[in-house]
Amino acid sequence: MKFDVVTIFPAMIESGLAEGVVGRARQAGLLDIVVHNLRNFTTDRHHVVDDVAFGGGPGMVLKPEPLFAASETIAEQRGPADAVLLMSPAGKPFTQADARRLTTLGHIIVLCGRYEGIDERVRQHVATEEVSIGDYVLSGGEVPALVIVDAVSRLVPGVVGDEQSVDADSFTRGLLDHPHYTRPAEFRGHRVPDVLLSGHHREIRKWRQQEALRRTAERRPELLAEAALTAEERDFLESEGFGPAGKKGSR
Ligand code: ADE
Repeated sequence: MKFDVVTIFPAMIESGLAEGVVGRARQAGLLDIVVHNLRNFTTDRHHVVDDVAFGGGPGMVLKPEPLFAASETIAEQRGPADAVLLMSPAGKPFTQADARRLTTLGHIIVLCGRYEGIDERVRQHVATEEVSIGDYVLSGGEVPALVIVDAVSRLVPGVVGDEQSVDADSFTRGLLDHPHYTRPAEFRGHRVPDVLLSGHHREIRKWRQQEALRRTAERRPELLAEAALTAEERDFLESEGFGPAGKKGSR
């Protein structure tokens, strides 16, 4: 899978993608990620990437020319992109379903916004999607770009060594993950639940599934409405006092 990230802070992206499973997958050739400095696509002596807003107001706006030039140069040198994602708090909220959809593409360009905004013509004529990572405002699109590249990359076969761990992730089934414990079995008086020490694999699986349901019902009841639950899982939630929407006492 091929990514090209365009930013005015390339070191921020490089350092974020140098380690962990993504760093290893890059070295192994599973991921082909190139980070581009937006300033390299300017044509003036001072490599200016921003300008004042037409109509006035505070803050600077990223100019269209370098971003158009970057996407065109990347397409020429690295092949046409299947998607050009513009990081923006005004974008569509990114979800695990988006991460899965993007893994089906071969080549993604990610554009990091900065300053007060980005010239609208980039949104209209370069970007194919505008993506937000949540309802808060960051100082730029670099951290969001790292989030997207990481979330998509770890779904590429071979990037996370243990495929089962990807399958078991929070959200893969539309539920939050169950609790995890490691040794020691007792720490400062806090014991690991007995069932996990029992060696009964069926009981352990059932406990994990129930704890995932309980957590989701308590913390993210709206996810339950979307999750495909079995009759047994619905019965469990009901027996624990969670109503159809997951809310305790809502029946
Ligand atoms: N740029 C600034 N804030 C952002 C956010 N929440 N998501 C994506 N890009 C952003």
